Amino acid sequence: MDGDIIFSNVTIFADNQEILKNLNFIIKKGEKVAIVGENGSGKSLLSKAILGLNEYTGNIYINNHNIKRLNKNNIREYIDLIQGDSYLFKGSIIENVNLNNEIKKNIKNVFKDCEIYDDIQRFKEKENTLIGERGVKLSGGQKQRIAIARSLIKDKPIFIFDEALNKIDNKTKEKILLNLTNNYKDKTMLFINHDLNILKHVDKILYIDNNTTTLEKINGEFFNVGLDNSVNSTFKNENDKTLSYIKKIIEINEKIGAMDET
Ligand SMILES: Nc1ncnc2c1ncn2[C@@H]1O[C@H](COP(=O)(O)OP(=O)(O)OP(=O)(O)O)[C@@H](O)[C@H]1O
Ligand SMILES: [Mg+2]
Repeated sequence: MDGDIIFSNVTIFADNQEILKNLNFIIKKGEKVAIVGENGSGKSLLSKAILGLNEYTGNIYINNHNIKRLNKNNIREYIDLIQGDSYLFKGSIIENVNLNNEIKKNIKNVFKDCEIYDDIQRFKEKENTLIGERGVKLSGGQKQRIAIARSLIKDKPIFIFDEALNKIDNKTKEKILLNLTNNYKDKTMLFINHDLNILKHVDKILYIDNNTTTLEKINGEFFNVGLDNSVNSTFKNENDKTLSYIKKIIEINEKIGAMDET
């Protein structure tokens, strides 16, 4: 289907080394999936493989096409990758968003979905405001929200967010995730993110461990994950597999926290 991603016996290499082995999973059109795993576990590599940018064996299908038979531009018609450090150039906001005249959606709604509309309204020249060196200096979170808008307007079936929301404050991030899940139901979205709150908004977790992946449906109750990333939740069932993933994600967060402090 339009928006499906299928991995069949995929092994992904970097520098001739096997990084992820024997991946088999199906992500269906419209599903929202969190990709989690330790630093260096292969999350970004996996997303690049979907775009045909990495060496791999096995078969990857998007929209029922084996990506081996698509050229990179064809693949880009189906997928957009948004990275946390997306580049904005000197120019107006609208020029940055409409890079290749690819506006296929109502731009005002997209700005609202990205929670950047009100910020833009506060600028004197609205979306014609210049950004970059001689223009308005945007915060890291504002830049990320504009980068997400730039991606969403292209209206592709699949979006991959690789740490694309990591500079956005938790409250705003929460709103954006709600907008994405409510207003983009038919879009397949993969979120590479260490924030536990992401789990409230996704259908599945693609967990990377031991050089391979497990795709699990989320069936715990995540409603009490605090904005500070603390988990106060009561889970339906202590044996729930989801709970073991949560514990792993907390471990990952603790490791990252420890690294940040050093
Ligand atoms: N171009 C490359 N050449 C060699 N090794 C690479 C290359 N890209 C990635 N790797 C290796 O592949 C592994 C996975 O890297 P990747 O960037 O996918 O990790 P990640 O899970 O995205 O980590 P992070 O959370 O830090 O972003 C790492 O061991 C990394 O060193
Ligand atoms: Mg990465």
